[in-house]
Amino acid sequence: MTTPVSSSGFFISFEGGDGAGKSTQIELLAEALRQTGREVVITREPGGSPGGEAIRKLLLEGDANKWSPISEALLMYAARADHLERTIEPALKRGAVVITDRFADSTMAYQGLAGDLGEKAVTTLYQLVVAARGPDLTIILDLPVEEGLKRSGATGDAEQRFESKGAAYQEKVRQAFLEIARREPERCAVVSAKDGIADVAGRIREVIQTRFPQLLSR
Ligand code: TMP
Repeated sequence: MTTPVSSSGFFISFEGGDGAGKSTQIELLAEALRQTGREVVITREPGGSPGGEAIRKLLLEGDANKWSPISEALLMYAARADHLERTIEPALKRGAVVITDRFADSTMAYQGLAGDLGEKAVTTLYQLVVAARGPDLTIILDLPVEEGLKRSGATGDAEQRFESKGAAYQEKVRQAFLEIARREPERCAVVSAKDGIADVAGRIREVIQTRFPQLLSR
């Protein structure tokens, strides 16, 4: 599949469990894309705009049970609506490549499929807020849960609310991302995150080279 990269930019999301190394891989991919002369905007969810970042703090700090499933999903989508309007869409309109560390698949995985909310409510929110404005390509970094929790726990930051929900929940999240990839193979690519940083980066580059070779050419 080789969809042309139009002048209206290109939207990539990175997804996966906690500790899969998304931010490192995003930096490496952004560097490779910048070398072709493209503007690359790196952003993240929840967050990515002043309003989104304010909501991020509410979501990621504190007790694991502080939000009900529906409140949590609504906050994720309030942040996402602001992020789309203020950061993602203006950048895509300028013709930039936008790479986001998490997007709507995270809500489907964490709140919808692994959490108690269920798929239907999350799909309704998706249709209301995102609809046709979703990613052109989604890289799902896959890693055994134990390894991911070891890596993310080692950072020692305050944003550990989801990590603190435990390994059984994280395993459901992992399976949910794999299920999303099975359902949408054209948009999603699963890349194993078990190996070294350079190997994983090479595999991500291969996915792009195969599906969207024009992105990596000058
Ligand atoms: P991260 O920035 O370290 O990836 O942490 C964000 C956390 O928020 C992560 O544990 C997954 C969670 N999350 C959701 O549960 N739903 C969402 O929609 C998003 C964007 C993140």
